[in-house]
Amino acid sequence: MKKKLVFIVGGNGSIGTEIHKKFDKLKNYRIIILDIKKNKKLNSNIHQVYFDLSKLKTIQNNIKKVIKKFGCPDVFINTSYPITKMWKNISYNNLDYISLSKNIEIHLNSFALSANEVAKHMAKNKVKGSIIILNSIYGTLGQDNNLYKNTNIKPNPIYSLIKGGLANFVKGLAAYYGKYEIRVNSIIAGGIKGNIAGSKIKQNQNFKKKYNLKTPLGRMARADEIASPVIFLASDEASYVTGANYFVDGGFSII
Ligand SMILES: NC(=O)c1ccc[n+]([C@@H]2O[C@H](COP(=O)([O-])OP(=O)(O)OC[C@H]3O[C@@H](n4cnc5c(N)ncnc54)[C@H](O)[C@@H]3O)[C@@H](O)[C@H]2O)c1
Repeated sequence: MKKKLVFIVGGNGSIGTEIHKKFDKLKNYRIIILDIKKNKKLNSNIHQVYFDLSKLKTIQNNIKKVIKKFGCPDVFINTSYPITKMWKNISYNNLDYISLSKNIEIHLNSFALSANEVAKHMAKNKVKGSIIILNSIYGTLGQDNNLYKNTNIKPNPIYSLIKGGLANFVKGLAAYYGKYEIRVNSIIAGGIKGNIAGSKIKQNQNFKKKYNLKTPLGRMARADEIASPVIFLASDEASYVTGANYFVDGGFSII
């Protein structure tokens, strides 16, 4: 059987690594990681290409080049996390025009432009593909300020804006490309245990305790638990799933 081709933008990050490992185990996918970070431990079934999503003017041309080299993907996943240097310090109190516009540019705009570009190639090549975008509970919910009180994490207004935009973009893209049998979905991931996003600092005990108490399953996610539904959405088992923002949050959003 011919192997399917999957492109994973951000495939060397925490969630991306679990995603590429799961695809690799299935044995019927050729895997191409598009990332600014290199992984020196990949096996020969997994290729990696330096790809910087934050350079918006080059995205369309770079996608064209990767497709020319490897072929048109059956599955396109974006699990990257492009951020500016000051990302972890952004809060409602210090929101400024430059951080706002730059982060929207490199995260929201880049995700939208790359997904649409790949969908165009899939349609042109008659590939009935699957596009999956990594989203967050904060793409559909406001942040609970009590969760952050006396912790080392701040609610980030730009994250909500970016992920909220992507949650609806997925629906628009799915509606437009449905006629080509291209499916577009996002994963609404709950918080993952580990570092504060965009830094090497661990989430403190107070944050974890409060988050766990608020979550019906009583804990934060492991990255591999976010990767599993990505495999499902990529597969033919999800052939009737499109335009969905698929909740994988331990029940965080239901109460
Ligand atoms: N970690 C969480 O708790 C969590 C929760 C919900 C949603 N998410 C979402 O999941 C996605 C992945 O998160 P993660 O925790 O794995 O992040 P991560 O920081 O561990 O990994 C992100 C990957 O993206 C790559 N990347 C960053 N900038 C890039 C660029 N300009 N071009 C190409 N690649 C780039 C990095 O090199 C890295 O390999 C993000 O979109 C994030 O918003 C994360």
